[in-house]
Amino acid sequence: MKTFAKSIICGAIAVFTGLTAGATDRPIKITKKYLNFPISHAQSRKVMKFTVDGKKERAFNIRLANAEPEYWVFYDMTQFKGKTVTISYDGADEGLQKIYQDDKIAGQDSMYKEKNRPQYHFTTRRGWINDPNGLIFYEGEYHLFYQHNPFEREWENMSWGHAVSKDLIHWQELAVALDPDDSGTMFSGSAVIDYNNTAGFNKGKTPAMVVTYTVDGHNKQVQSMAYSLDNGRTFSKYKGNPLIDSKEKWQSNDTRDPRVFWYKPGNHWVMVLNERDGHSIYNSPDLKNWTYQSHTTGFWECPDLFELPIDGDKNKTKWVMYGASNSYMIGSFDGKKFTPESGKHYFSTGTIYAAQTYTNIPDTDGRRIQIGWARQSHPGMPFNGMMLLPTELTLKNTKNGPRLFSKPIKETEQLFEKAGQWSNLKEGQANDKLKEYNNADGLRIRTTIKLSHATSAGLNLFGQHIFDYDMNNNTINGTFYSPDDMTSMELTADIYIDRTSVEVVIDNGAYSYAFQRRANRDNKEGFRFFGNNIDVKNLEVFKAKSIWE
Ligand code: FRU
Repeated sequence: MKTFAKSIICGAIAVFTGLTAGATDRPIKITKKYLNFPISHAQSRKVMKFTVDGKKERAFNIRLANAEPEYWVFYDMTQFKGKTVTISYDGADEGLQKIYQDDKIAGQDSMYKEKNRPQYHFTTRRGWINDPNGLIFYEGEYHLFYQHNPFEREWENMSWGHAVSKDLIHWQELAVALDPDDSGTMFSGSAVIDYNNTAGFNKGKTPAMVVTYTVDGHNKQVQSMAYSLDNGRTFSKYKGNPLIDSKEKWQSNDTRDPRVFWYKPGNHWVMVLNERDGHSIYNSPDLKNWTYQSHTTGFWECPDLFELPIDGDKNKTKWVMYGASNSYMIGSFDGKKFTPESGKHYFSTGTIYAAQTYTNIPDTDGRRIQIGWARQSHPGMPFNGMMLLPTELTLKNTKNGPRLFSKPIKETEQLFEKAGQWSNLKEGQANDKLKEYNNADGLRIRTTIKLSHATSAGLNLFGQHIFDYDMNNNTINGTFYSPDDMTSMELTADIYIDRTSVEVVIDNGAYSYAFQRRANRDNKEGFRFFGNNIDVKNLEVFKAKSIWE
């Protein structure tokens, strides 16, 4: 399986314009909720279209299996119920004939119980996911939209998948929110609620949820919008799209990932847009007409920009700007221009990518909550990618100035049940305590170790470094790390282990990282603390619950 080489090629999808000479047609009267499609990676991708009453409704690239499928994917057909949908397919007829409708997804009975299904992280039922999009809280629901290919576990057919949650922990996956269309595929973007009806989409007392996103097509990337009046369940694309076409200005095909928010002091909308070599700021009174204001070089893809209090003091704030890698600058912002003061810094590394923070969180809560995409796979599964645990971002003063800290949100605590706690162990004793958890599916382990030498010390699981702190080179798993007290001989790690992933939070959120948990357990060692004469000052073990039960 090709994993995370996700090549962004402009106009990569030619589906709506592609010719279907020689394609076979199959009319199906839709009476059930889903169409199920057989997939084989031995087949190359071919164009599949849905036509209703002579009107082309959908087009995707898909590898229909003409023999035994490797796995099945599905598409929610609710909106076509009662209609006859003609499916045309550019590939072999055998695959087309295997498609069937049902009120159940093929494989529904084992859904979320599959061997390598993460148990407390969000994954999609079938297909591929990457960037979180349009993270917004509205009317008691946290929305998680995301880059999604419903038709295969690899990157293609970029659509906006959609899931909702009441607590950011337990998710319900809904139908695709934005499908590719004639203009191209649906790349990353963000969501707002237009309380003041600036765009004129509101209906009575119902404000529109407005999403702004990139359309990737026809050798350029343009910015477009769509709105929903039913809590994100269905969207209408704006007839005046695109809103911004800046290819000429930047002489670049890389202009994408609009991040929109309301700027209260100026009474206007702000869009942060990645253009070629950095993040641009645009302003708008109505979400439709955007005026370019300024540009900060040094970022790639997936911008975010927000204000945070330092050490919780609302009178002392700074603005944070980051890009897809999560590396950030700290500075000030006047609604038109971000002025960097320090950076670029990092606070989290590893599989995390394209993270976005929630908007419209009530003032009474006031948290800045981030979700990042984990660029990782789940061996043998009909889905790919994962969302990391939601984290709360804060700015804290350090000896180097204010820095971002991130910790899993307090809601994650419900997932973990304490199984044991010990203090002041030698490494051998600590290893004995952990033995019974070697093969556990899901765990949280919190530990503080005290080094007595400058050489490496840490904790392994089946030979894989959960953390390897090298106090000579000042690295943790290879990345530079120096504690705020630079003479400290201690390190605290809060470790979240799921079936296929590990997240590690160092020293109360000063640094964190995520990686794919190795499936190969040939190394018989299990958990093992290592280092030259270390003390395990504290060790806590929690068993993890599944969010899918
Ligand atoms: C980041 C990214 C975005 C783009 C999206 C396409 O992972 O490359 O810049 O909008 O993925 O899926």
